[in-house]
Amino acid sequence: MQDLSQWPNLKAKYLGKKSELNKILRGLKDLSDEERKKIGPLANSVRGEIERWLQRKRAELENKVDQEKEWLDVTAPGQRIQPGHLHPLTLVQNQIEDIFTALGFEIADGPDVETEFYNFDAINMPDDHPGRDMQDTFWISKEKNRPKGSGVVLRTQTSSVQVRYMQKHKPPLRIIVPGRVFRNEATDASHEHTFHQFEALVADKKISVANFLQVAETFFTQFFGEKIKIRLRPSYFPFVEPGFEFDISCTNCGGKGCSTCSQTGWIEVGGAGMVHQNVFQAAGYPRGKYQGFAWGFGLERLAMMKYKINDIRLFHSGDLRFSEQF
Ligand code: PHE
Repeated sequence: MQDLSQWPNLKAKYLGKKSELNKILRGLKDLSDEERKKIGPLANSVRGEIERWLQRKRAELENKVDQEKEWLDVTAPGQRIQPGHLHPLTLVQNQIEDIFTALGFEIADGPDVETEFYNFDAINMPDDHPGRDMQDTFWISKEKNRPKGSGVVLRTQTSSVQVRYMQKHKPPLRIIVPGRVFRNEATDASHEHTFHQFEALVADKKISVANFLQVAETFFTQFFGEKIKIRLRPSYFPFVEPGFEFDISCTNCGGKGCSTCSQTGWIEVGGAGMVHQNVFQAAGYPRGKYQGFAWGFGLERLAMMKYKINDIRLFHSGDLRFSEQF
């Protein structure tokens, strides 16, 4: 017998209805008393013997190893494991952090689920401020007659970390805040409900727009590995005064004009400006004592320019055909 599947047959053969032993046991009733006394116990002890033998046989078969199946070629070459790698957004974030820490900036952080106070009120956007309408906000809680700033939102901007950080630190300060932000957007190739921003905040006694320009130019030139020029256009953000939108010279044509920059030579990157004194005041600084600049822009946008990605939705699609290219 080779394997366990044959064991029931073996059992039937020696103990089953048609077995020799069973014939003897059934025949006991036809024997004389004397013969029965002799043969009965003998037949029973034979039966016990067979049962024990069958148990041993079973255990033996259960432990039997199929040598052929178990054979292992220890000299066979291993199977190559595909190593994982960083997501393009992480790559870009790491690179940005490297450039800024080399310039003496610290990296600051804040929660994704934020109070209305830090996301809006503290940075000069009180409840009735029309500026709130510029950002479609995911509200987590928003009661009608709530105390000022007590609602809870998914943060719409990394600017939410400005006052959080300044409440705990005094100028001079230089920080960057990379992080996830959320907006209740209709998504398309350039809009996502969940994306990343990149805030910079510098504050000291005498900080000017010239400092901003110099830091921005240094950063973008290092990031793209080619000389980048910065252009400011007047714009409005409640937490800065004056406020700008800033463009960088087109990374595709170097500023000559091409289809990437709609023939303008410039690409819009983000918002910036000189920190509003109301923001310093919300952080507990005396009005007029400090000056600073802040900027914010989208990480995805930068990654899209750098890697020539044409749809922002790819970043969170989970599609390996996309992420394996980096
Ligand atoms: N937080 C602004 C936005 O998300 C960008 C910004 C940051 C503008 C800092 C000026 C200064 O639109």
